Amino acid sequence: MASKNIVLIGFMGTGKTSVGKILARKLNRLVIDADEVIEAKTRRKIGDIFEKEGEPYFRALEKETIGDISRKEGVVITTGGGAVLDPANLEALKKNGWIVALMAEPTTILRRVKRTLSRPLLKGENVLSRIEELLRKRKPLYEQSDFQCATDGRTAAQVAECILSLLEGKLS
Ligand code: S3P
Repeated sequence: MASKNIVLIGFMGTGKTSVGKILARKLNRLVIDADEVIEAKTRRKIGDIFEKEGEPYFRALEKETIGDISRKEGVVITTGGGAVLDPANLEALKKNGWIVALMAEPTTILRRVKRTLSRPLLKGENVLSRIEELLRKRKPLYEQSDFQCATDGRTAAQVAECILSLLEGKLS
């Protein structure tokens, strides 16, 4: 039987990209990041797409990209934080993947995202309250995952270990 993908979902700043790279290395798998595929395909930065075409345009690109990636087998897939907003994305990813949600408290997220200015949804003032509001809306969607891993106070390597133990015996 084909080996299932490992799919990381979760809010911005929960460490999906870093953890995905570690997991892929440890399991000798390929890692595919949905946002990177969108940037390569459009030859544009996510921030630029958001700014010039708006969020609905980005979400359509994201859906098309996730539809393509979800047909892969035996890879690690990392997604953008808003990928869960369209139920079709999770549905496609679940068909051949274990969905693992990385979770974090708003203050942890704020500390982690402060270092970069590249996230269009977190630009400007009152970042903490925006994180809290978005997280309130999205938490039930992240909870639709097969497994969840708390990332507060943990390094990416520790989170990767947590995922490996959750998936023990489930990977062929
Ligand atoms: C988004 C998260 C970003 C990126 C885009 C939208 C979101 O990815 O897809 O800026 O809606 O949460 P990261 O979660 O990798 O930052």
